[in-house]
Amino acid sequence: MASLTIRKLDDAIRDELRLRAARNGRSVEDEVRVILREAAHHPPPTAATPPAAFQPEAADRRPRAAHGLPRVTLIIGGGIAAYKALDLIRRLKERQIHVRCVLTRAAQQFVTPLSASALSNERAYTDLFDPSSEFDAGHIRLGRDCDLIVVAPATADLIAKMAQGHADDLASAILLAANRPILLAPAMNPLMWNNAATRRNVAQLERDGVALIGPNAGEMAEANEAGVGRMAEPTEIAIAAEEFLRPPQPRPLAGKRVLITAGPTHEPIDPVRYIANRSSGKQGFAIAAAAQAAGADVILVSGPVDLDDPAGVAVKHVESARDMLRQVEASLPVDIAIFAAAVADWRVVNEGEQKLKKTSAGMPPLQLVENPDILATISKLGDGRPPLVIGFAAETEHLIDNARAKLARKGCDWIVANDVSPATGVMGGDRNTVHLLTRDAGEINVDSWPVMSKEQVATELVARIADSLMAKPGEKTS
Ligand code: CTP
Repeated sequence: MASLTIRKLDDAIRDELRLRAARNGRSVEDEVRVILREAAHHPPPTAATPPAAFQPEAADRRPRAAHGLPRVTLIIGGGIAAYKALDLIRRLKERQIHVRCVLTRAAQQFVTPLSASALSNERAYTDLFDPSSEFDAGHIRLGRDCDLIVVAPATADLIAKMAQGHADDLASAILLAANRPILLAPAMNPLMWNNAATRRNVAQLERDGVALIGPNAGEMAEANEAGVGRMAEPTEIAIAAEEFLRPPQPRPLAGKRVLITAGPTHEPIDPVRYIANRSSGKQGFAIAAAAQAAGADVILVSGPVDLDDPAGVAVKHVESARDMLRQVEASLPVDIAIFAAAVADWRVVNEGEQKLKKTSAGMPPLQLVENPDILATISKLGDGRPPLVIGFAAETEHLIDNARAKLARKGCDWIVANDVSPATGVMGGDRNTVHLLTRDAGEINVDSWPVMSKEQVATELVARIADSLMAKPGEKTS
């Protein structure tokens, strides 16, 4: 091999060469030979396939289709709520969302890059001028090589920087160079949130198309302070992020108003006791969420349940059957009404004004009276009757026969029959086996579905409703 003469190397490259040679125990000239030999055996990459040494996060460069998971760049601002950002990473990851974190300098006072990277399984970024990522304009890549940017907590300072277009640190530079949707979860003291400057900045960002989740009202970290300024809970933020990332869904119920009842009712005996049943409300809530996802305007009238209100659904919380009927009637007119509630059939006539006491006279007589039948009342309405009324039949025996009888007795269009015997685990459980009874030219059709999760039952039911609307647009669907 001819001898090598390398001239006009700039100082940095010469220093790097010397270091590399010393590390490998070679002369500088030998080191250059090794580099050239390696280059000859591994031809230089094309622009589309940069060399492995130059792509420390090779996976990040893969297009989303190949990578599979939707990707979020999570910018963690410097506020006390930053600790919740760690939980947010978990909530996003459990939704199969890939997360890459950026921490502002102030955020690092509250959480460390190490915890963020351990939870996200990715390097966490902190510096605008980071030699290992800046070689390919990392601040631009972090704001573009993702599907969504989430800022949580979005502090007053970060919001102000965004509104003004500052780019003097990594977070603000990413936000300024981003071409992806941005979701902010503001968190700050209520006085800061209500300050005219913050109001102006937030209004400007909303005009710029930035989305916000929260802030919520509540106690502040500062003692004795409360008001609007708490960061939305990690689960709320994760759900909002998921919404952004969801590919556009068909919305077959767009423009339709759907009313759903769910849960048990509580019928008071006295101020502390009530009659109830084992309904969890899960099936009705799942139907509400599925109808909302299908584009419907959904009103959910729910008895007492231990479930979060489905996002984007107007929920009216009630206690008793009579309250439920009142709220149902107040929600009319609707296009579709689905009665999934397990309404208590009876209530106590002589409801005690005070707590009933044990006396030597024996047990208090509890006289029962039948509750109004909400489904039958709405099915039998004249002009205000929804074009499609769907009831449920909760049975423990003779499922189909009882459901047929209920369809006729209640006057609804469809019945979803389910076996609620304790052995099935349907009441309170997550799965359901249902039979859909529909009327077809005077006949009753029975369609038996396999065992499914309550969410799948909801999705299938909404699909059937959408089909029936398509089949008979503008006509009564029965
Ligand atoms: N339903 C109602 N109001 C009532 C009772 C029931 O709206 N007071 C509705 C339920 O929401 C369901 C359907 O009627 O859609 C059937 O409820 P179910 O409990 O299965 O039947 P019941 O009518 O209560 O009759 P039974 O208890 O005799 O089976």
